[in-house]
Amino acid sequence: MILKLVIVSLSYIKLKMKVFIMDIANRPHQHLAIRTIAMPKDTNPRGDVFGGWLVSQMDLAAGTIASIRSKGRAVTVAIDGLVFHKPVFIGDEISCYVEVIKVGRTSIKLKVEAWVRRALSNDTLNVTEGIFTFVAIDAQGRPREVPITSVSDA
Ligand SMILES: CC(C)(COP(=O)(O)OP(=O)(O)OC[C@H]1O[C@@H](n2cnc3c(N)ncnc32)[C@H](O)[C@@H]1OP(=O)(O)O)[C@@H](O)C(=O)NCCC(=O)NCCS
Repeated sequence: MILKLVIVSLSYIKLKMKVFIMDIANRPHQHLAIRTIAMPKDTNPRGDVFGGWLVSQMDLAAGTIASIRSKGRAVTVAIDGLVFHKPVFIGDEISCYVEVIKVGRTSIKLKVEAWVRRALSNDTLNVTEGIFTFVAIDAQGRPREVPITSVSDA
């Protein structure tokens, strides 16, 4: 009986480890820019999380990285290829991962992926992605050059 219990427990731990490793392997390898929780205030009267709320989180995440990369103020000039793969529910933990994919003279193109960890099941999945373009601006709001930091930027 005890042996049976040990075998069942070991199988359970093995399964959990496999799920954990698959979860880590599936996550994006970009920079985690922000993490937040979807709250009731972020929903419409029917209780669905607004797509616009999620996009604003992604915009904040991209803006943080654009600002760090451009060493100053940067504003959103375009959002392309936005796709909502799955819904977001109240209580879901949202993580926005950002990758700089192109640095221009005054602009920076960033890929943003929003992932959720479901509040009840702990499942993690990619819910939304899109390409955000930011322009580095000066104190007068005019485009300014993004500093070159590597040979590939030149
Ligand atoms: C961003 C802004 C300063 C750019 O001014 P602009 O006079 O259009 O600047 P430019 O034409 O010189 O373009 C600047 C850069 O943006 C890029 N760009 C401009 N429009 C773009 C677009 N629609 N998509 C992608 N990139 C674009 C240009 O290619 C250029 O990049 P590069 O220098 O790396 O080659 C101006 O459009 C602006 O203030 N927009 C409002 C931004 C804002 O308030 N965002 C928040 C909304 S609430």
